[in-house]
Order: sequence, then structure tokens, then C-alpha cells
Amino acid sequence: MGVADEPKKPWDGRFTEATDAFVEAFTASVTFDHVLAPYDIAGSIAHATMLEKVGIITGNEFKQIKSGLEVISKEIESGDFNWSVSLEDVHMNIEHALTRQIGEIGKTLHTGRSRNDQVATDIRLYLRDQIDQICIKIRQLQSGILNLAQAHTETIMPGLTHLQVAQPIVLGHHLMAWFEMIDRDHHRLQDCRKRVNILPLGAAALAGTSFPIDREFTAELLGFDGIMDNSLDAVSDRDFAIEFTAAASLLMMHLSRWSEELIIWASSQFGYIELPDRFCTGSSIMPQKKNPDVPELVRGKTGRVFGSLTALLTLMKGQPLAYNKDNQEDKEPVFDTVTTLLQCLTAFADLIPAIIPHKDNMRNAALKGYSTATDLADYLVRKGLVFRDAHAVVGKLVTIGIECGKDLSELSLETLQSRSALIESDVFNVLTLEGSVNARDHPGGTAPAQVARAITRARARISD
Ligand code: ARG
Repeated sequence: MGVADEPKKPWDGRFTEATDAFVEAFTASVTFDHVLAPYDIAGSIAHATMLEKVGIITGNEFKQIKSGLEVISKEIESGDFNWSVSLEDVHMNIEHALTRQIGEIGKTLHTGRSRNDQVATDIRLYLRDQIDQICIKIRQLQSGILNLAQAHTETIMPGLTHLQVAQPIVLGHHLMAWFEMIDRDHHRLQDCRKRVNILPLGAAALAGTSFPIDREFTAELLGFDGIMDNSLDAVSDRDFAIEFTAAASLLMMHLSRWSEELIIWASSQFGYIELPDRFCTGSSIMPQKKNPDVPELVRGKTGRVFGSLTALLTLMKGQPLAYNKDNQEDKEPVFDTVTTLLQCLTAFADLIPAIIPHKDNMRNAALKGYSTATDLADYLVRKGLVFRDAHAVVGKLVTIGIECGKDLSELSLETLQSRSALIESDVFNVLTLEGSVNARDHPGGTAPAQVARAITRARARISD
């Protein structure tokens, strides 16, 4: 960050001594809020457009302000702009540069606004943009999930509860569970966007302004859906940032759970999947190691997003109306959350379609854990036994299976009949993995035909 010449403070008129050097650095935000520059400039151009429309500035003044801001925008983009800590924040840096660029006219830009409504506008514009980027990444990830799920509507694996083999499912069905979670995240972010996209500008410091501004016009210029109705609320509200980090926390919680699962699945003990080499790292000492670093890091980064949510909630909980300097602390948690989310979604959108399922290992695992025991109990119910008794019969048969090291489907008909005379030779259709998954043939169930239909419905949902 370059250092500009020592500028005067806008509040110098009221003060008799210069700001303490430590206080200047301590209270400055430009080291991080310079990220808001494109939004600050867009907001200023819209504000100036409105000032001209209502006759507060002339057409000529507007033209000079606009072209001055455009020059500054290019300087910032190319890295030629000198940010000054003594100008505190992105807003005062840009305004100061404008006055240097176009002279006294630059000073008219701040008419009818304050940094309080300006900064609230900037963060909303920034967050609206970032939510759109995040939602694009979510859709990429979802389409990757759908493609993988489509290729595995018949790949059988054990479904787990308590991390123990429970019932057979198909991999496509399992993947679609993640699709649904991520889809809810998309909904939540879209919903949050509605409350982000309302204009605070015009609230000025806190009470509104004595100038005849046209807030609806500014809102329209900036693509906001409306204006905030109360000026005190407009400058002090950060609910939208908290909502965003809350939605982000849920999304990260999903990615973290999924990461944990991928790490387990890729272990030699499970061996359900292989992660592509380009997503893994090795060990500097153990030649055999292939570590699932990317999902591990996603799981790890979840903590910082939860931390940001806690930071923002705590930031707001003690603040009386209206704006307080505390609010300057809203930016870093929001920025960090955005960066983390975009990185983790990029990693997952790339990783998920590239995972290589080991179908045989999945199938063998499903064969091992008596995963069709519930199917046998259901079979006995269909033959007339009540479920609790059926449960007990099958429990005994599982014990016999464990004793002789055989799956239920490998027990002889006589052995099966020794526990219930209701069992006939048609039982073996029920005891196969295919029979089990095909039987769960209703919307939301794991039957391959149902999973294929769920994927078709999901494709339509994400193409809206
Ligand atoms: N840098 C400040 C922030 O991020 C801008 C608003 C400053 N307003 C004030 N009254 N000091 O919140």
C-alpha cells in the first residue's frame, strides 16, 4: 500500500490537535476495506446522478465527478492508487483523490449522505455480488453431483447408521442426499439476498437529510429492490451480514460433514473411493501415504466461518442505535467468509465429479453387515407375522450367521426355516442386495428407478 501526501482530516475544523499516530492506525480500516472500492465508486456515481437529477449539483459538476471517479477506478484496478492510512477508510481515500483530481467540485459529492449510509450501501452491493458468485459455484457443484449420481443409480453400497452397516442403498441415492443439503443452502442464500438488496443510502448520518433527495431513483440505478424505511435502522443494521454468515455456516457444516465422509471413504479401511492424485498430497517420510488434504482443509476451514458468525453476533449485541464505530469490525468476518466459501466450493465442484468409486468394495461391504436383515423381517410381516416377532426371528438368524461366518443369503433354507416355518424358497429374492434396494420403490426411496427420477427432477430444479 503506497503512502499519499499528508491530507487534512475532514473534521479538522473542530479539532485543536492532530490525531495520535497509534489511534490513526488503530481506527483506520483502509487496509482491508479497500476491497469495497468498486462498490463505493458505483454507489458514488449513482448518488451523484441522483444529486444532478434533483438539481443539487449541475450537469457539468456531475460530468466532472463521474469522469473523475472513473479515472480513480482505473487507477485502483491497475494498482496505481496510493491508499493512505491517515485517510482512514476506502470512502475518504476515494473522495480525497476525487478532489485532487477535479478540484473543489469533488467536495460536492458528499452532499446529502454520510459515510454511515455510504458504508452500509457498499457492503450490501459487495455482498449481493458475492452471493451471486457463490450461488454460481453451488450450481456447478450440484451439476457435478447429478452427473456422478446418474452414473451410479445401480451401484450398491451399504447405507450406514451409527457408522455401522444398516441397509443397502445405491451410491446415486447417497450422493443426492448431499445435493439436497446444498440445494437448501442455495435457497437460504437467495433468501438472504432479498434482505441484502435494499438501499440504506439517504439515511445520511442517522436521521436523513435536509436535501430533496430521490432515494427510489438511487435504488433503481443501483439495482436495489427498494429503500430501507427507517434511517436509524438503515445505518446500523447488519442483520443481513449475520444472515449471510449463518447461511454460510450451514453450507460449511454440510461441506465439513461431507469432507469427513470422503476422508473415511478414501481410507484403506473403507476403500470405497479413490481421490484423484491432483487433490492429494504425500508424506515427506512415509512413501506410501496419499493424504486427502483438500477435504481435510475444507473441514478445518469450517471453524473460521463459524467464528465469523459468532464475531458478528457478538459485534451487534451491545450496540445502541444508531451507527457505532464497532460496525467497522463487520468487514473482515464477512470478507473472510466470502473467500472461504468461494475457495471451498471451487474445491468441491472440481473434486466431486473426479472421485473414483470402488464399486466392488462398496458391494462387498454391503454383503458383509447383514444389511438385508430388515428385508427378511418385512418378508415375514408380509407372510403374516407381526413386526416385533419378525424382528426377533431375524435377530436369531443373524446370530446363527455370525456363528458360522455366513450372510443371511448364504444360510440354507432349512436353517432359515428352523426359526420360522413361514419362510419359503422365495425368500432368497428378498435377501439379495438388488432385491432390497428395488423394494424401496417410492419417492425419496433408494430404488434405482426412483433415484433416476429424483435426478431428473433435481436437474429441472437447478435449471430454473
Ligand atoms: N470505516 C467506517 C466503517 O467501516 C465507515 C463509516 C465511518 N463513520 C463514522 N461515523 N466514523 O464503518
